[in-house]
Amino acid sequence: MNLQCFRNNVIFGSLLTFAAVGSFAQTKEVKKEPIQMTSAASGSEMYKSYCAACHGKTGKGDGPAASALKTPPSDLSLLTKNNGGKFPADHIAYELRAGVAGAHGSADMPVWGPLFSSVSNRDDAMVQMRVMNVVHYLESIQAK
Ligand code: HEC
Repeated sequence: MNLQCFRNNVIFGSLLTFAAVGSFAQTKEVKKEPIQMTSAASGSEMYKSYCAACHGKTGKGDGPAASALKTPPSDLSLLTKNNGGKFPADHIAYELRAGVAGAHGSADMPVWGPLFSSVSNRDDAMVQMRVMNVVHYLESIQAK
């Protein structure tokens, strides 16, 4: 399944997210899989399940799916550094819920609001908890 299909699926709110990437000779292919259930209480578990495929285990943007994307995944360990030394918690929470507005409004970054909602019985308080715990996890991996 190619990237365009994945993006359309996210836009239409299906329960799919990136999981793995296979490399066959010259062709890189990103596989999509149903979004996995995770604990809303664990930012690190959510990060590993939902983010590491693209952003890498340590957030540096070097996950296995990264090279198949048109836009390189951001280095999430530099969020504080890139924001003048202050971790931009509110901004990141907003981007997770509503999406990152990339160049020309089409980023390879999934919009997590609807995806988190789909694994939270559409309970908005749970979605908020997921967002906040992922944001806290990101804060914990900032470069010193
Ligand atoms: C399918 C690959 C993919 C997955 C999965 C993914 N991201 Fe991203 N992410 C990207 C790409 C690509 C960008 C860069 C978008 C751009 O600049 O247009 C990005 C950008 C971001 C940004 C913006 C950084 C900044 O400097 O403003 C944040 C924050 C972020 N991702 C967090 C996450 C989190 C948290 C998760 C897991 C819940 C996640 N991403 C999952 C691909 C992904």
